[in-house]
Formats: sequence, C-alpha cells, structure tokens
Amino acid sequence: MFYGADYYPEHWPRERWERDAELMAKAGINVVRLAEFAWAKMEPEPGRYTFDWLDEALDVLAQQDIQAVMCTPTATPPAWLCQQYPEILAVERDGQRVAFGMRRQYCPTSARYRELSRQITAALAERYADHPRIVAWQLDNEFGGHHPRCYCPECADAFHTWLQERYGSLDAVNDAWGTAFWSHIYTAWDQIPLPTDAVGTSNPGLELDFYRFTSDQWGSYAQEQIDVLRAHGVTSITTNLMGFGFAEINYFDLAARLDFTTWDNYPIGIQDDPASIAAAHGLMRGLRDEPFWIMEEQAGPSGWQVMSPAPKPGQLRLWAYQAMAHGANAIVYFRWRTCRAGVEEWWHGILDHHGRPGRRYDEIARMGAEVRRLQDGLQDAMPPKAAAIILSYDDRWALRLQPNAYGLSYNELWLTYYRALHKLGVPLDVVPPDADLSRYALVVAPTLHVVSDVYAESLSTHVQQGGHLVLGARSGVKDMMNRVVNQPLPGLLADLCGVEVAEYDALGSKASVRVAFAQEAEYIGDHAVGHTWADILKPRGARTLATYTGTFYEGEPAITTHHVGTGTATYVGVLPDQDLADALARWATEQAGIVPLLQDKPAGVEVAARDKAGQRFLFLLNHTGESQSVPIAGSYRDLLADVVIRGSVPLAPYDVAILKTGLGA
Ligand code: GAL
Repeated sequence: MFYGADYYPEHWPRERWERDAELMAKAGINVVRLAEFAWAKMEPEPGRYTFDWLDEALDVLAQQDIQAVMCTPTATPPAWLCQQYPEILAVERDGQRVAFGMRRQYCPTSARYRELSRQITAALAERYADHPRIVAWQLDNEFGGHHPRCYCPECADAFHTWLQERYGSLDAVNDAWGTAFWSHIYTAWDQIPLPTDAVGTSNPGLELDFYRFTSDQWGSYAQEQIDVLRAHGVTSITTNLMGFGFAEINYFDLAARLDFTTWDNYPIGIQDDPASIAAAHGLMRGLRDEPFWIMEEQAGPSGWQVMSPAPKPGQLRLWAYQAMAHGANAIVYFRWRTCRAGVEEWWHGILDHHGRPGRRYDEIARMGAEVRRLQDGLQDAMPPKAAAIILSYDDRWALRLQPNAYGLSYNELWLTYYRALHKLGVPLDVVPPDADLSRYALVVAPTLHVVSDVYAESLSTHVQQGGHLVLGARSGVKDMMNRVVNQPLPGLLADLCGVEVAEYDALGSKASVRVAFAQEAEYIGDHAVGHTWADILKPRGARTLATYTGTFYEGEPAITTHHVGTGTATYVGVLPDQDLADALARWATEQAGIVPLLQDKPAGVEVAARDKAGQRFLFLLNHTGESQSVPIAGSYRDLLADVVIRGSVPLAPYDVAILKTGLGA
C-alpha cells in the first residue's frame, strides 16, 4: 500500500533533501507526489528545460526506496508565460481578466494555453515516462478550483461550437430554451451570449448548458494531457479531485477519462460531522465504483491567512483510516513540511516550519508502521452493495441557478439523507442517475430534479424488479433542457410514485411544517418536521404515509408510498429535518431488508466495511473525544491490536479498530 506525502524539494535547500528522505522512510512513507506547481523551475524561460533538480530529488528519494507520483505543472503557469501570452488568462463573469499572482489563472479553452500545456507535458513525459521510480502521474492540480468558469471570447466561440454539436440547428436551440420568451430568438450562433453579469439573469436552459459546456472544457483540456502521456506509454494517470463540496465539474465524466480517482481530503471544518467526510469518500469511490487514493490528506492545522485549531491527538490517524474504511488504497499527506514563504504559510504539513519531527510526525509514523502490516488483504477490497444514494451534477447546477425556494440547498438536502443512512451503519454507495441500480435493495434520490426518459426508466425498472426507492421533493420538475415539464409533477416519475403534486408551497428555509404519520405506519415516528418546501399530494394508487398538520393544507398527504410488484416507490413531499430523515431511513432500510453492519453502534462511532475474497474488514472509527465500547457478535481478529476479540471492542478517544472476519460470520 502507498503511504506518502506531497513533497516540494524545490522549496528547500539542496542539503536538506537527504534528511527529508530519511525522516520519511522512518515514518513508513514510500511515495511522494512531486512538482505540480514547479513549472517555473522546470522551464525558467521559454523552451529551456531544467529537470536536473527533479532527477536529483528522485535519486535522493530512491536511496530510501521512496517512489513518486509525477505531476504536470500546469496549475501554475509562470510569470514569463502569462506576460508573453496574456490571452491565456481567464475572464471572470464580471468581465474582468484574471491577473497573474495566484494560481489556476488560465482559461481551459485557450488554444495557446492548450498548446503550452501539451508542450510542457510532452517535455516531462520524454524525460520521465520510463523512470523506474514513478508509479503514477497527476494531471495539473484541482481542475476548476479558483476560476471554475471562463467568459473570454474564445470560450464564447467554443460554446457556440459546443451548442451546434449538441443541438444541430438554431431552431433546436430556440426550442430547447424557449427563446420566444422576451424575444430571445437567435438567428445566428454568434448572437448567443455567455451568461455574464452584463446580461444579468440568463435563460435557465442557456445557463445549465454553459455549466455543462465548461465542465466538458475541463475534460477535453485534461484529455489533451492524457493523450500526450499515453503517447509516451504512461498507463497510470489521475488528477486530484475535490470531494463532495466542489460542484463545478461533473466528476463522473472527468473520472471516466482517468485510470484511477484521487482526491484531497481536509476534514478540518467539517470534523464534527463525520458523515460529511464519509459522503465525500463515498462520492469519490462512486465515480468509478473503485477504490481511490487520497492525494492530499490533512496533516495539521490548516489555513492561509488564519489557522484552524490543531487536530486533536489521534484525529489525523482517524481521518486517514476513515478514508481507508471507505475505499482508499493509498494515503498521501499534504504536505511534508510547512512552507516558510508563500500564500500557504499557515497550512501545516507533517513537519512544522523548522523541519523537526513533532507530535504530528509521530502519529503519522505510528500509522505508517501499522499500514505496512495491513498491506495485502485490504488492497482493492470494496464495500458491499446494499443502498445507494443518487447524486446528479445537473441537479446541483440547476438548483444552484434556481433554488426554487429561499434557502433550498441541494448539498444540504442531499447530506441530510446521506447522514441518515450513514448513522444507521448500512453500506452506502453514491451513484449517478444513470447508474445500474439492480445491485441495490434501496435507492434514495434526495431529489431528482432534472430528469430524462432514461433516468425515469431506470428507476421504474429498479422498483418493478423489487427494489425500493425513496424520492424527495422537487423531483421530476425539469427536462434535460432545464424546462419545466408539461405534465403534473413529479412529471416522468408520477406514475412510478402513484402520486401527483396537486399544489405546492415554497416555504423557504426559515419556515417548517409538521407532518403526522398515519396509523398503519406509526413506526416511522411522531411529530415529524419538514422545511423549505411542501408538496400537497394527490395519491393516484399510492398509500398515504403522512399528512400535514397545522397549516391550510392540514390533512392533505405529505408522504406517500406506492407498491409496484414487490418494490415500493416512496415520495417525500417535504425537505425532511434530520430527525424525519433518520426515521425515514430506518423505515426504508427495514422495508428493503438491509441489515446494518453492526446492531448496536454507539453514537459517534462510525462503522464501515470493505470485502475481498470472502473476507470482511470492519472499521470502527471513534469520532468522539471519549472512550467507547462497541458490542460485537462473534469473534474477530483485531488487525491493529493483533489479537482475537469477542464481546466488545474498546476504543480510546479518536481511536480506530479494524476487525477481520470471514464473510457470513
Ligand atoms: C488544496 C490544494 C493544495 C493546497 C491545499 C491547501 O486544495 O490542492 O495545493 O493549496 O489545498 O490550501
């Protein structure tokens, strides 16, 4: 298993490098990521390449048996380049051209930048494609960060070409966007504006297409580097993604171009909500339905101008094991040593600025020793398949552009359902709306707002084949062009759910509404609360599970369930608060016959499993500052303590246990 650090030898005197490599090896580090921001050191002036320092760094690391991930350095075009080719700089929505001085300042469409990017990639590949110490390649760094969308003239041209390819004719575009509204009918492609601040509020179809276009531009930009590397025989290509919080690029599309997924995990800031961290791991695993790497794992307090509080003793190790629990095949910490200069002076690495080992080094070294023992069994193991939660980038974008109700947040809604399932300790995959759902007993779509025939068909097949579906409010509202559908809501999903939305009430996030469960479904819970949105439902074959109370639609259905064969489609007409989501998750998993990984799990202890070759690795992760005891049935080998354990597992604050057992035990 790879266990590593992001290393910037170019930031430190040459005489320090051996000491760094020695300290790394002692901590169990066997891989470093190199050079993703080092373009100015590789090509100090146009066409003059200086790779000697990188050769030497690789040699020094090799003496300690440390391998490397090589990066293309295109996230940081040097000053000379930006001065010589100012047209490569991105233009913001307000029309301002980005200036040199930070990073990621380029436009992904720029033909000039694409050429320069291919050139530096080719120069690197010529030098290192066959290097025996390089185990993988990272493209650029965090595509879409800082300036996710560009509004330059080249992007306008490329957008028009993209639209021509997608729609074929202007008539089709005019129809798709409904341009009869406000006399927006286009009679030439170059009349179509980018959705800038100068326009103000743009047509929803145009805006959603512009998001899709930009996402595709990042993909095709990345693909050019991939093609260059492939032409040099490189077979292990990735790029570091940014988890759940980042919604600018359709990561399902981008990840499909790669050989494996990696992402950057910084739990500080969301540490009190381990489910949110788990959700990000789940999404990253779900992109390719494969194990992934962490390319940047939190290694200390973080911040640029201001620092976060210090991670508590044990938390760095806990977060790294949490990543592994959800499918990480490798952990690489950001960064090896805290930089003494530059924007990120307060973003702490494993070593402090002074470079001497301290508490964080010791904790990471302890885990390094443990990881060496875990190696083989765990590598490539995958969580079992039971429940899935649908995540749609079209929905994230459409609901960002038009939240429908004040304060309606796709992320918050989605996380509420995710948290509910996570709390139960059931295996949970994150899947796109066009995924193969036949592998799951339960599928939850917190909302499925933009719906194609294909998505509707797939959900319907899932239920008809005995699967269970929970579908949230504002589902089935839009077609793929971001137009409102021409039938009663939830549109293409109405028949499947056996329900129609008779009327709705956009409450806004500050208002809530109570729902009461009908007799036969008492076990779901009492006095449940929805907020932000209320659909007043008219069952057309579905059974009412809950009705509204204390509002002008008192007594009207709020939650319904429709039996279709042996499957069910449950429609939730409100945005549930966490308690209601928890109750629904409990009810839905029971209906679907999904058994939690552990029966009696103390709150604050996370449980996750990875299976391989008839073996299960059960992770118990104590996210609390208190000692815990976790009851278990049967006997397990505790891999970290190296003992056989029965009855219960003791966990110190922020501690971890990995239990191994034969499946079915
Ligand atoms: C990441 C980025 C790193 C570094 C880190 C701390 O998102 O990839 O290069 O900037 O954040 O800010």
